[in-house]
Amino acid sequence: MAHFTKATSVKDWLNQRLAIEKVEKVMASEYWIPKNINFLWAMGMVLVITFVLLLVSGIFLLMYYQPSVGMAFDSVNYTIMREVGFGWLWRHVHGVAASVVFLIIYIHMFTGIYYGSYKKGREMIWISGMLLFIAFSTEAFSGYMLPWGQMSYWAGMVITNLFSGGSLHADGLVEWIRGDYVPAQAFLTRFFMLHVLLVPIAIMGLIGLHFAALRIPHVNNQDGDEIDFEAESKKYLDGDKAGSKVMRFANDFMSKDMMVVGVYLVFFFYLVFYNYGFAMDPVNFDPADGLKTPAHIYPEWYFLWSYEILRPFNIDLGLALFGFAQVIFVFLPFLDRSPNSVPASRRGAFKYWFWGMLIVMIVLTAMGKLPPEGMFSTIGLVAAIIFIAMWIALPIITSLEKKL
Ligand code: HEM
Repeated sequence: MAHFTKATSVKDWLNQRLAIEKVEKVMASEYWIPKNINFLWAMGMVLVITFVLLLVSGIFLLMYYQPSVGMAFDSVNYTIMREVGFGWLWRHVHGVAASVVFLIIYIHMFTGIYYGSYKKGREMIWISGMLLFIAFSTEAFSGYMLPWGQMSYWAGMVITNLFSGGSLHADGLVEWIRGDYVPAQAFLTRFFMLHVLLVPIAIMGLIGLHFAALRIPHVNNQDGDEIDFEAESKKYLDGDKAGSKVMRFANDFMSKDMMVVGVYLVFFFYLVFYNYGFAMDPVNFDPADGLKTPAHIYPEWYFLWSYEILRPFNIDLGLALFGFAQVIFVFLPFLDRSPNSVPASRRGAFKYWFWGMLIVMIVLTAMGKLPPEGMFSTIGLVAAIIFIAMWIALPIITSLEKKL
């Protein structure tokens, strides 16, 4: 058996058993962060905080929510919103966080794309990030089913119909997913299980993987400098803190992260108290009715760009392109053939690719919300074609890029 000595303090007692000093060094005081990064690098921490808000508010909602088709709507709209003390607050926190988390995810993703943070040993950070994106999308969709309003029902109907594979008519698969011919009790129960158990567990595991993937390559920096972390951290520990290019994660960098988190929380709670309406679709305040299709069925804003890639084409081509749009971002580290991991502004044609991609996704999002008629459907069609063409062009323009 290992040798234990009489502990001199609680910390020492724990240290002998759990090596907490070592853990503290690896995770905080000797976790080195480059100095030349800006507030956009705080988005990862903002995402962690938003996820915690979702978990805590979700646990409170779970105390009163009833996962049955007869009770779900009333348990949300009457019990939680009117009868339970502060139930409305937890619901607004949950709804606003579910929407805002996607805004932050998109900012975080596009920061990574702009600075080339998915290259040179950082591929696993990117891939685990995209798996988180898919897990968050599943979490948002399954949560949207739970109030069992009109949009829950009909969005559930439309999205599960996609699994029939267009003219393949795999209707058996759709019924298997629903557990019934139409969304009903089996459907609600399994999406409830996904939302409160399976997907949150997957998200926690993926956040662990995302962090582990960051440990060896370290975070990138805004100048694309290749930092010798060993030499720079030695400089820091030897006392040359000002001359070193790195700083400790805790408490140095974390205090900057917390400053951004503070500003974010002011914005977040402003939305929760004064502007929560954007996160709640008015149509979903009508109970689910399988005999009354709403005039326009559209997803929440964060899915609109990919929905608009599905819509302008015939069902088979639309489905194929929709599938393409869902997975293509995962392959970014391999489609970008240039070795330069520097800001897009210094990368020739990629600079235009980056801003073009951002604009095209905003246009697709706007068109996805509008009814598919006249001018709007033409703009949507053109934007969808440009989106696909830009991904096909990416390996070509990046392999022509000059090495910096
Ligand atoms: C939704 C949950 C997520 C959480 C909690 C999270 C958390 C973090 C944290 C704490 C960092 C380090 C600090 C920073 O750069 O902000 C980070 C870095 C990173 N994340 Fe995420 N992230 C998430 C989603 C994503 C997604 C969807 C992507 C896109 C694929 C992504 C890609 C990256 C990349 C490329 C980096 C490295 C940045 C660099 O090296 O400069 N993450 N993430």
